[in-house]
Amino acid sequence: MDWGMKNRLSRIIKPDTGRTVMLAVDHGYFLGATSGLEEPGKTIKPLLPYADSLMLTRGVLRTSLAAENDIPIVLRVSGGTSIIGKSLSDEGITVSMEDALRLNVSAVALSIFVGTEYEKQTLLSLSKLVDVGEKYGIPVLAVTAVGKEMNRDVRYLSLCCRIAAELGAHFVKTYYCENFTQVVKECPVPIVIAGGKKIEERAALELAFCAARDGAVGVDMGRNIFQSDCPQGMLRAVREIVHKKAKVEQAFELYESIKNR
Ligand code: R5P
Repeated sequence: MDWGMKNRLSRIIKPDTGRTVMLAVDHGYFLGATSGLEEPGKTIKPLLPYADSLMLTRGVLRTSLAAENDIPIVLRVSGGTSIIGKSLSDEGITVSMEDALRLNVSAVALSIFVGTEYEKQTLLSLSKLVDVGEKYGIPVLAVTAVGKEMNRDVRYLSLCCRIAAELGAHFVKTYYCENFTQVVKECPVPIVIAGGKKIEERAALELAFCAARDGAVGVDMGRNIFQSDCPQGMLRAVREIVHKKAKVEQAFELYESIKNR
């Protein structure tokens, strides 16, 4: 891995702990103004000091984040679908690497839809993105999206993560599952987990704890942070787990103390 690639990755996965707390706010690229992100700038601002990186689209980056911010950006560069369209898996690349470079991003992110009719298209897009990423030293995050008919089980998620790594992704985002250690063992690049749909705060902290315990380098969480009744409390509690190896109860107490302040 060359210097620029390593340097960018180390801005996201922090060298002192080998872990990362990424904040995902890219949901609008197919969901529109989803709950909690109606005004992205307002949601993001108080969370910035507690996130190791921000995953978002170029539209929200340009309009909702001051350029003076030095938070590492993971730019969503796949899309072209919507929640009311025919198929969410029919994604293509939506941003050129030149624009990603102009935006000074630390990594780019693209979803792959293994097992869907658009599997080949999305996997070839990943390969192309990795080729250009390698050229300019920009790491690629492959997001293992799940089709409606797919199970989020170890067999499927391990398949997706391994394929992403084999095609050259520099890190992978997937879901936590039973026997997650096997997913980690069989994937030669770092894994971060998505939070998924909003669940009760304690359960979301448990999810982060189990993922980190079982070998994920961290989380790339969205709804369980920004749809919480105390987003800052949740993000700080997740940080305690991921970076300081706090237990779920300790982290939950921190969340409650910040919420009740
Ligand atoms: C989904 O495709 C997006 O990349 C989201 O950023 C991702 O699912 C993580 O967000 P959440 O924790 O809300 O699942």
